[in-house]
Amino acid sequence: MTISEIRSFFPVLNQKVYDKPLIYFDSAASAQKPVQVLMCEEKLHNDFYGNIHRGAHFMADKATIEFENVRTKVAEFINAPHREEIIFTKGTTESINLVAFSFCEAFLNEGDEIIVSEMEHHANIVPWQLAAQRKKAKILKLPFNDSGILEIEKLAELISEKTKIVAVTHVSNVLGTINPVNEIVKIAHQKNVPVLVDGAQAVPHLKIDVQEIGADFYAFSAHKMYGPNGVGMLYGKKEWLEKMPPYQGGGEMISEVSFEETTFNELPYKFEAGTPHISGVIAFGAALRFVEEVGFDSIRKHETELLKLATAGLKQIPGIKIYGEAPEKSGVISFNIEGIHPYDLGMLLDKSGIAVRTGHLCADTVMQHYQIGGCLRISFGIYNTVAEVETFLATFNKIRLMF
Ligand code: ALA
Repeated sequence: MTISEIRSFFPVLNQKVYDKPLIYFDSAASAQKPVQVLMCEEKLHNDFYGNIHRGAHFMADKATIEFENVRTKVAEFINAPHREEIIFTKGTTESINLVAFSFCEAFLNEGDEIIVSEMEHHANIVPWQLAAQRKKAKILKLPFNDSGILEIEKLAELISEKTKIVAVTHVSNVLGTINPVNEIVKIAHQKNVPVLVDGAQAVPHLKIDVQEIGADFYAFSAHKMYGPNGVGMLYGKKEWLEKMPPYQGGGEMISEVSFEETTFNELPYKFEAGTPHISGVIAFGAALRFVEEVGFDSIRKHETELLKLATAGLKQIPGIKIYGEAPEKSGVISFNIEGIHPYDLGMLLDKSGIAVRTGHLCADTVMQHYQIGGCLRISFGIYNTVAEVETFLATFNKIRLMF
């Protein structure tokens, strides 16, 4: 698919903001949605909306079939061995909270340890801290170096008899580093420790194969991969999920309820309490089909070209400091420029039609590593162009000279 074909599916990009053509460089926060996804959600509501797994009527049956087809599709998309290992959630954050609660209820005890990398998004730190507080356990940090590369040689030393789980991101939302998750899993598994991988920033850019990675849990959201917001998934190996208690109680997750005793449903429904985001899940399926149609080889090639061009351009600007220069990097660049506050820069770029993200990027531990309060981040999606990168660099230079 050519870039103009891809862009034709995103009419939202064809607009002006503050009278300037929109350049959307904030896909790592949330990606825009192609018409295929928008139409899929609309079609459901126009044609066959009903509550799933419950109804005794045509609409409910049709919605149930479409919903469950997406579960199969997600399983194929990440090469999960069993479709019942796919649990629909609100997004990556809820997926990680689910594991941090249920896994830790079952397996974490006083004095135990959880290893979390230093480059995690808050969503892969705080749920573990809450679990550790509940169980009087400890969090250990797996550090990264100044280039933004995880020091995985330290992992084996950190793992002890007390370690119950390792939590690590596949791709850092700040540094862009693509972590060698296969190796991390291998090291942890040699010591019989399971691994949760946060895939939120990986799935829009890389072909994921959970069997090849070997992860025990893998989490991601639909909204960063051109799907609807408010929906995501958790993959978990059956042998863990079966031993974990439910995360939330309600309809669907039960087998039988009485005041004396309640028994729980089988996988994956044990972890899907209440009416899920039906239209979101069904449109998630459309997003998966769309991304596959574009193809991961072209996605990676295109985004790498944009990344190289933008990095080279930024590096020519005096006073620039880029955070994260790992050789294996996805399409995000976080940086600061001496003497200009990132919020001022972000605001001026916005007024020039360029959407970027500023602040701590939900990754305070990364900010602390570099001793900064915040930074500016540009992030690419499949619809961004070389011309947009060139406009960004020229605009950025103009703004810089104003200060
Ligand atoms: N996690 C999202 C980001 O990195 C919100 O912007």
